[in-house]
Amino acid sequence: MSGIDGRKALVTGGASGIGLGIARRLRAGGAEVAVLDLPGDNLRDVRADGFSVVTADVRSRDEVAEAVAEACEILGGLDTLVLSAGVIHIKPLGEVTEEDWDLTLDVNLKGAFLVTQAAAPQLVASGRGRVVAISSDAGRCGVPLLHAYSASKAGLIGLAQALASELAPHVTVNCLCPVSTPETGMGQQVLAWKRKATGGSDRKVLDEISRIFPMARAGTSDDVAAAAEFLISDGAGFITGVALDVDGGAALNSLPGAAQ
Ligand SMILES: NC(=O)c1ccc[n+]([C@@H]2O[C@H](COP(=O)([O-])OP(=O)(O)OC[C@H]3O[C@@H](n4cnc5c(N)ncnc54)[C@H](O)[C@@H]3O)[C@@H](O)[C@H]2O)c1
Repeated sequence: MSGIDGRKALVTGGASGIGLGIARRLRAGGAEVAVLDLPGDNLRDVRADGFSVVTADVRSRDEVAEAVAEACEILGGLDTLVLSAGVIHIKPLGEVTEEDWDLTLDVNLKGAFLVTQAAAPQLVASGRGRVVAISSDAGRCGVPLLHAYSASKAGLIGLAQALASELAPHVTVNCLCPVSTPETGMGQQVLAWKRKATGGSDRKVLDEISRIFPMARAGTSDDVAAAAEFLISDGAGFITGVALDVDGGAALNSLPGAAQ
């Protein structure tokens, strides 16, 4: 896809799941990609896969500043930022601790802010900057038991819109709003919870999703990566401030079983 080749991209949360899927897809399109993630075992695999790696907790301004500077040095600049680092907890209101709330908001929302703030000078200087933030269907409409997560993902859409205006015309800033992707880390957490809540197997939960979603299947990290690739491509240079659903039509008011 035109506009991916030669891009210099940093992917937060790129050691796992959707972030890793996007990192691989961008690299396959000819981009140079560095992954930013927490130090840990995952990084060994990502390094073995040939990616440059920088480490930071996205909640720490100092660590983020250092990691973004290191990534710019490795890549020789920066024109693309993907914000995929994220956490979730699934609990009834009465069981949510202040620590749960703070962790979720700090990683998912403040972390995205800190990384974008650190990367913005390079993105602007590139003259063709791109930011893609991974929000969620829960950022479109609050989900029960996901109070902090829903708030963080709705906040991410607001943050992206604010940045889209402020950084134009040098940088586009957009969000993707995927539904659950069962094969990734967070998708597994959600699947495990649904299994426990319904007493069903993975198969049963996935069959239920297939029955409800018009596109008759759950999402994958590659669905999200394809949408990210589009928003990063030259062809999307006039698209900024949008939140694009990657949801198999789940937001449609459809009748289960009505699809052909
Ligand atoms: N998987 C889904 O079903 C789904 C659906 C909608 C949106 N999303 C969003 O997509 C993104 C990725 O989800 P995933 O399923 O790939 O999750 P994942 O758990 O597979 O990957 C998340 C990555 O973020 C990193 N991370 C967590 N806290 C961090 C911190 N403080 N600093 C730096 N890195 C940190 C983790 O180490 C991990 O590598 C998240 O933002 C999530 O909210 C996921």
